[in-house]
Amino acid sequence: MSDHKKVVLSGMQPTGMLHLGNYEGALKNWVNLQNSGKYEMYFCIVDWHALTTAYKDPSDLVERIYQIAADYLAAGLDPEKVTIFVQSDVKQHAELHLLLSMITPIPWLERVPSYKEKVEALGLDSYGFLGYPLLQTADIIIYRAEGVPVGKDQLPHLELAREIVRRFNFLYGEVFPEPQAILSDAPYIPGTDRRKMSKSYDNHICMGDPPDVIRKRVMSYYTDETKIYRGDPGHPDRCPVFALLKIYAPDQTEKIKADCESGNPDWGCVKCKKLLAERLIETFKPFREKREQLLSDREQIKKILAEGAERARARAEETMRLVRKAMKMWDAQ
Ligand code: TRP
Repeated sequence: MSDHKKVVLSGMQPTGMLHLGNYEGALKNWVNLQNSGKYEMYFCIVDWHALTTAYKDPSDLVERIYQIAADYLAAGLDPEKVTIFVQSDVKQHAELHLLLSMITPIPWLERVPSYKEKVEALGLDSYGFLGYPLLQTADIIIYRAEGVPVGKDQLPHLELAREIVRRFNFLYGEVFPEPQAILSDAPYIPGTDRRKMSKSYDNHICMGDPPDVIRKRVMSYYTDETKIYRGDPGHPDRCPVFALLKIYAPDQTEKIKADCESGNPDWGCVKCKKLLAERLIETFKPFREKREQLLSDREQIKKILAEGAERARARAEETMRLVRKAMKMWDAQ
């Protein structure tokens, strides 16, 4: 990993098994960026962030970390090429978060969209939850990352990260580059109820799900609600199953579109769903096998994450030395 490469960091909360939305929206892009060979990359499993909401029962956090790590690796992230690690293994994130908290006006955090919404919707009002985007800022800038591959929903968090960087650099001197989002043109992945696929809506399909679970989930998909009987003309562009067929059965979509729109009685929604289920099962077969094999040897996963943490720590500590020095701290002497 040479120094001239642009540093990139991204992260996800350890929600357990990842779903198609996570894969198409993020993970796939991460693997592509890795394979371009252009970047020095860090992927962080943000277990402290998970506690900002799920603090009452953290007992399955460890298991969820194994699950997401297996998904990263099965999807093709290669620990020889990139650094995969768990946030809580790199305590420097906490130190930087604390120091940044001193220079962050509370209104900057309160005005992050989604904060007020979530406070009301989830009844969350902890100090840690308010600081969520600041901890995220620390995750990013502690690697002096310039690129952050994320979905559009994270743009306000990156805007805050840049504001904090400007304030820090103004107060103490240039230490951090301003991180920019790396957006991919990921397709919209609808869940079974046509809302955005999300574990919190329980409308998701995981790549690691066994075939019968995939079939059951696909069968429960909403379709075009104006197409009631087989033989009624439908509107593929309103149908979430069609949206997924465009990705997983592109060779069939032209014919399906014509049959659906004309109301061909020989091709109804059930056939679309069956095709989609079989394509998903087939597409992710190697993924499922790899993931199972990985999870049968947790020591191996632990070792990969420990090595990742060691590399991450080296870079994070190097940044913290610059930070302590810039702030003329006692522990920089
Ligand atoms: N907030 C991000 C999400 O919900 C997770 C995250 C935490 C993250 N720290 C990060 C993403 C740093 C990118 C970079 O998906």
